[in-house]
Amino acid sequence: MPEQISTATDTGILQVPETIAIIMDGNGRWAKKRGLPRTAGHKKGADTIHTIGLEANRLGVKKLILYAFSTENWKRPEDEVGYLCKLPGLFFDRYIRDLMNNNIRVTFAGELERFPESTQKMIRKAVQQTEANTGLELCIAINYGSRRELLLAARQYA
Ligand code: FPP
Repeated sequence: MPEQISTATDTGILQVPETIAIIMDGNGRWAKKRGLPRTAGHKKGADTIHTIGLEANRLGVKKLILYAFSTENWKRPEDEVGYLCKLPGLFFDRYIRDLMNNNIRVTFAGELERFPESTQKMIRKAVQQTEANTGLELCIAINYGSRRELLLAARQYA
């Protein structure tokens, strides 16, 4: 099991932001630079979520939002989309115990229903398993998009 990370940022920080939002980007470029398939970049991105999550939690950040999969991402090649759909399951299989040990609560934002049943199940299970945790809220934004948000807002207003 991965250990809790410790870095040199223990001193020197006067103020820690309550919320941090990260738009995930550059996974493909990371992989290309190393002669690896794009999926290897996404796997590395998921492992980095774990690293950043633990560190943010340790520093006392309350909420970390990760923009992981936008509605635009459905246009990517089928095998890449397929891998991205599997990634939450792989991530939680590997890290759920560590998230629990570090009191991290998982939430999600966005429209989950378009994902395969198995993906939805893994995400919902992680949310449920961690719901009583009181440390960092790790919010995964999935299948989000400004067009969709505007449409929903307009519908609500109407
Ligand atoms: C952008 O990189 C990243 C994505 C489209 C997907 C990132 C999503 C994950 C790592 C899944 C996370 C979810 C969980 C629960 C682990 P890019 O492919 O656009 O990179 P590029 O700009 O270099 O091509």
